[in-house]
Amino acid sequence: MAESLTFDAQTVTEAVAEGIAKIAQATDLEELKAIKTEYAGAESAMTLASKAIGSLPADRKKDAGKLMGKLRADFGRAYGPKEAELKAKAEAEALAAETVDMTLPVTRKPLGARHPLAKLMEDWEDFFVSMGWHISSGPEVEAEWYNFDALNFGPDHPARQMQDTFYVKGNQATDAAGFVGSNMVVRTQTSSDQVRALLEYGVPLYVASPGRVFRTDELDATHTPVFHQCEALAVDKHLTMADLKGVLDKLAVAMFGEGAKTRLRPSYFPFTEPSAELDLWFPDKKGGPGWLEWGGCGMVNPNVLKSAGIDPEQYTGFAFGMGIERTLLLRSDINDMHDLVEGDVRFAGQFVMGE
Ligand code: DAH
Repeated sequence: MAESLTFDAQTVTEAVAEGIAKIAQATDLEELKAIKTEYAGAESAMTLASKAIGSLPADRKKDAGKLMGKLRADFGRAYGPKEAELKAKAEAEALAAETVDMTLPVTRKPLGARHPLAKLMEDWEDFFVSMGWHISSGPEVEAEWYNFDALNFGPDHPARQMQDTFYVKGNQATDAAGFVGSNMVVRTQTSSDQVRALLEYGVPLYVASPGRVFRTDELDATHTPVFHQCEALAVDKHLTMADLKGVLDKLAVAMFGEGAKTRLRPSYFPFTEPSAELDLWFPDKKGGPGWLEWGGCGMVNPNVLKSAGIDPEQYTGFAFGMGIERTLLLRSDINDMHDLVEGDVRFAGQFVMGE
């Protein structure tokens, strides 16, 4: 260092006293550090005075050295305990800031609930899978051919009329299987998957097709334009109505519990012959056991098998179909279908099924 150093006992003593006074006033560690730099750092009066001792005449060196030793010790005695005190204070503050107050009220995240329909669809699929059946699902926007023609609906069948069926405007099927030009509809029934599945998988076939269907039905407590059905189709050699009845009774028990059974009443569907309405005996029905309408069924009409290129002389089949919502309404005694579509978690949370 070029500047000449001078040793001034009074100046350095005053400077150190000032530093010690400031240490006493310091309120945090940062301030304390700054005081250390100012009064004991490389540029401080104390350091410069120590360096200046070297240039003092020999007879003054000893006293100057003693003085500097004392000043350094004084400074250190003030600094050490203050540093410890401020460190403890900083730690206490950090701990206080990080403390979790266990008594504060919490904002709970609301829990969702599985929709009872989704759960019921799974139970339904489980039933068929347990018998070794295949689960399939056709498209919701479907060629009119699969939805009606292939199922033996005549060209003038009333169900084709606009009041029941949503036609998809401007679209025509481009299906390579020969149905090019068929109008497109949003399927009105999962029966539309019968011939699709037969063409895709061939025979023998045991298949269940759950899914959404669409009808221009009026909106009331028991109808919505979109709802779910499950179709079941079995085509094999030697199948009879006894096989149909056996599966239906098993399904009734799976869905409605021990003691549930089914009965058939003669009816008409274009795609089954003979056809039947299907009633359910529900032992746990609210207000007492009784028969309830549940769905439709029958032996597969030979014309349907022919639509899929299957020889009706060799193969027979049975089919049935039910509304899933209807099953849920019956089973859980729900009065208004709209509760199922409104998505209120308080509604969904009431159902614990098939656990
Ligand atoms: N597809 C019919 C409907 O939507 C229900 C149905 C009736 C399905 C008889 C069948 C059946 O498989 O055999 O009302």
